[in-house]
Amino acid sequence: MIALGLPPEASTIAPRVDLLLYAVTIVTGGVAIAIFVTMIVFGIRYRAGSKVKRAENVPEAQARARRRVETAWTLIPFALFLASFAWAARLYMVRADAPANSMELFVVAKQWMWKLQHPGGQREIDEMHVPRGQPIKLVMTSQDVIHSFFVPAFRLKQDVLPGRYTEMWFTATKTGRFHLFCAEYCGTDHAHMGGDVIVMEPAEFQRWLNAHAATQSMAARGEDLFRHLGCSGCHGENASVHAPNLAGVYGRPVPLSDGTTVVADERYIRDSILLPRKEVAAGYAPIMPSFTGQIGEDDILDLIAYIKSLASTKERPK
Ligand code: CUA
Repeated sequence: MIALGLPPEASTIAPRVDLLLYAVTIVTGGVAIAIFVTMIVFGIRYRAGSKVKRAENVPEAQARARRRVETAWTLIPFALFLASFAWAARLYMVRADAPANSMELFVVAKQWMWKLQHPGGQREIDEMHVPRGQPIKLVMTSQDVIHSFFVPAFRLKQDVLPGRYTEMWFTATKTGRFHLFCAEYCGTDHAHMGGDVIVMEPAEFQRWLNAHAATQSMAARGEDLFRHLGCSGCHGENASVHAPNLAGVYGRPVPLSDGTTVVADERYIRDSILLPRKEVAAGYAPIMPSFTGQIGEDDILDLIAYIKSLASTKERPK
């Protein structure tokens, strides 16, 4: 592909984004040239005082031909616009839908750094190690203001917002180091908020994971928190309080007290911890205390990882 000074194409979607960019640039450039050439030609040909024929009362046949030309220059650009819309929408859908076999990584943005966590518990700051050829799904949130996770070589950018999770996925196609930027003005050190994505061969990545092995996985840390914060006092096996059993809840529909149903995803679990009155499970009293201000976003991700790890069990956690 033509380079045009663009960053390298290092993800599966990058060449597809570039192709769309080139197509739109060529079409709009072509239309602009056609319009300017016509303007100049007509400007010279029909300038004041030129002897060219200017028919004021055109015969019917000529009027019909003019209407056809007008219809054509209305419909052809319309079709071009619709085609580029359909093309971009298709790409947007591809971008939005992470493959089922994606490896999850968790990103917490804060002024002014990127904190990354692997399910195995490995933590990184301003660096993200990933294997080549493996779909990676990022689950991202912010601890303070709006940031934006931007990797030009992957042609991907996604806003990272406080109070909710946003997702982004990619499959890296080239090994190497690629810049990571914050693309949303987020305060004094916004310009320095960045880092590198390091794409490694799968075997090399596995060695990296082993070399940086954490004492605890995210789920194990979450389990500890579950006890220390007292969650197990109500949700645990020997609880005297009537609280929902969290085993097997992840990914399932949860009937709520207001008659609606939600799927217990990351968002729902997070809100249940911080805003417990918002969506109370049907059949339970709204007695859960809020943990707002008591735990950080990393802790919440650990707790979610723990609850996810209970997805396939039925028994109450201890
Ligand atoms: Cu974070 Cu700009």
